[in-house]
Amino acid sequence: MSHLDSVDQKPWIVIKLGGSSLQEDNIVRQIAKDVKKLSDLDYKLLIIHGGGPAINEALSEKKITWEFIEGQRKTTSEMMIVIENTLVGTVNRKIQKIFSQEGIPVVGLSGSDLEMLLCEPQNESLGLVGLVKKVSSEVIKVLVQGSKLRVIPLVAPIGVDEKGERYNINADMAAMNLAVDLKAQHLVYMTDQPGIWDQNKQLIKEIESLALYQLTETHVVQGGMLVKVRAVIQALRNNVQEVDIIDARTEGNLFSLVHENKSVGTRCYRN
Ligand SMILES: Nc1ncnc2c1ncn2[C@@H]1O[C@H](COP(=O)(O)OP(=O)(O)OP(=O)(O)O)[C@@H](O)[C@H]1O
Ligand SMILES: [Mg+2]
Repeated sequence: MSHLDSVDQKPWIVIKLGGSSLQEDNIVRQIAKDVKKLSDLDYKLLIIHGGGPAINEALSEKKITWEFIEGQRKTTSEMMIVIENTLVGTVNRKIQKIFSQEGIPVVGLSGSDLEMLLCEPQNESLGLVGLVKKVSSEVIKVLVQGSKLRVIPLVAPIGVDEKGERYNINADMAAMNLAVDLKAQHLVYMTDQPGIWDQNKQLIKEIESLALYQLTETHVVQGGMLVKVRAVIQALRNNVQEVDIIDARTEGNLFSLVHENKSVGTRCYRN
């Protein structure tokens, strides 16, 4: 079977790279090595990244202050320019450089390209934080399924509305939106923790949607993990079969999970 036929038959796997892990080149390089192994085995991959820490640095440099409301950064127009420049211009390019050095033909994209992530304001109090109302994954399918090059799309979580206005979208939500649209079988969140902690700070190895919801209600998950868990619940509800939250810092985690089906963090299932 040719590479293209083989890829065509594979289900999509969407991988979200968390911001804090991206600050360290050696972690990105470790992840790239796993991605390369999976890509060589014809897995059909889409990667989306965050960039919280890089955005914090860029905003601080410009002396712009910010506040988080339930894990989402309230976004003004002034901040939006910095956020877009940082995610698309700095973080995306940096990952692309390291992945290319590892021999991966990665194509950097912004969610605003071709209205891939079409948004509306999530709510007035959050300013330019976008809620995705429509996903157009055509460009991704063309890139991946139409080329023999084993192209991997790398998406920065920027949204756009019909007027071209840019939005700050939470990368965890954007990963969920893309996974749902692509009918992905597997969504993997790579973060700076071994997975989700329970109330005793013990790693939860397996959990179902309802129990995940209870973690949000009881405030066991907070901040960035709160948004992530909400995205996980939505992904499961919309037929993504398996969602895992794993440690980006541990070498080989991604490959063990995807190819060897080993549970390496928190495995989330639908009830
Ligand atoms: N119950 C919990 N289990 C694990 N982490 C938790 C929990 N409650 C809160 N957190 C926090 O959530 C953080 C992970 O979310 P965060 O948004 O910081 O990372 P990310 O989504 O991987 O990166 P980015 O947002 O930059 O893409 C952890 O570092 C931890 O401090
Ligand atoms: Mg986050």
